[in-house]
Amino acid sequence: MTQTQSTPSTPASSRCPVANIQWEGPAREALAGHRMLDEARRSNPIVRVEEGIGFFLIAGHEEALQVAQDAETFPQSLKMLSTGEYSPFELVPETLNGPMHTKWRRVLGSYFSPGRIEKWDARIRARANDLIDTFIDRGRCDFTADFALRYPTGIFLEFMGLPLGQLEDLLKWETAILHPDYAQGPAAIAGMHAAQAAVTQYFVEVIAPRRAMTRDQRPAGLVTEALEWKIDGEPVSDTDLLSFYLLMFMAGLDTVTAELGYGFLHLATHPADRQRLVDRPELIANATEELLRLYPIVNTPREAARDTEIAGCPVLKGEMIVISYPSAGRDESSYPDALTADFERVDLSHLTFGAGPHRCLGSHLARHELTIAYQEWHKRIPEYWLDERVACTEAAGGMMTLNSLPLQWKR
Ligand code: HEM
Repeated sequence: MTQTQSTPSTPASSRCPVANIQWEGPAREALAGHRMLDEARRSNPIVRVEEGIGFFLIAGHEEALQVAQDAETFPQSLKMLSTGEYSPFELVPETLNGPMHTKWRRVLGSYFSPGRIEKWDARIRARANDLIDTFIDRGRCDFTADFALRYPTGIFLEFMGLPLGQLEDLLKWETAILHPDYAQGPAAIAGMHAAQAAVTQYFVEVIAPRRAMTRDQRPAGLVTEALEWKIDGEPVSDTDLLSFYLLMFMAGLDTVTAELGYGFLHLATHPADRQRLVDRPELIANATEELLRLYPIVNTPREAARDTEIAGCPVLKGEMIVISYPSAGRDESSYPDALTADFERVDLSHLTFGAGPHRCLGSHLARHELTIAYQEWHKRIPEYWLDERVACTEAAGGMMTLNSLPLQWKR
């Protein structure tokens, strides 16, 4: 990437091919989003999407890697793609930049290390089996509602040290924030803000009583541990704590739900791949990586801090960019036979957890949750398939996820 001579008077659409993409639309057929990105990427590694305030979509793997790693030129931004307004909700550490972001990552790192996550193995396995118990005798389930949404949410509450009682509210807020029904127009954005306010209020009501408790009285978990954190020798403010809890809520729940959805959709519709996992469970760790590579779900925005150029396309200071990890993972120029799931693929590296300073903090936890879900499910329900009579749709927007996944098996 080099500095460019473009002037702000040059329209973005004449500097970069425009893609025929509907970004924030109504629910669509499952996997339509990944296919739409495949088509866009084959036209050019960077394309222009003229929706909302308009943005450059980084579809190529190499270009996504470069943009994600260059946080000085492409910092995080709270500017919303739909309206151009700046969101009032800071998400710590995701929306932080520079030294403050680094300080937070130093504090958070040890809580999400592989060693720390290993200790959750038995609890996560128990959570998977408890959920399977609730529907195995039915011979069918909506995998999204009955398993994929509830599994990480229960683990999140335990990890954070929060009571399970509010699980249903959390699920409702999560959908309103991350998958607004764009068919409702401005009401969808209002609903998203209302849900963000409700989650924030939920955490406000958690923090105050815990602060009032002695250390011995406080329930175990990350919410309590965070009360003692210091940045630059100063205790973390309640405002920053709330932003951190809000991000954990958004980053930790929906992502695992979404990856489980696409992973199980793949296995339900590719019986030979499913059978390989049943016959050779030692392949499950590799299969988890390969399914992550093939079905990434996070498209993430940045704002250009200066005039620059990506793959020959001039980008001006202040213009918005979306790194499309869901496209990057499927880029034929980076992965041989990119659209095939190969559970014995040798190069298992991928960008599904991002790259650069904002690389996913929860990747070890996420991998652990996914691997355990594939292991426990296939021990108990080895043969299952998609119920073709029921629609299988996905939400459109920055976060890709299945709205439902109707599965069936023999009772
Ligand atoms: C399979 C599931 C997951 C996927 C695919 C995923 C993906 C990602 C991606 C792509 C990013 C970088 C976003 C960017 O570049 O702007 C990210 C950041 C982040 N993720 Fe995840 N994530 C997952 C699970 C989790 C879990 C379970 C947690 C925590 C419990 C978590 C916590 C975070 C946090 C805190 C950040 C922000 C890091 C920073 O800005 O420094 N994620 N995730």
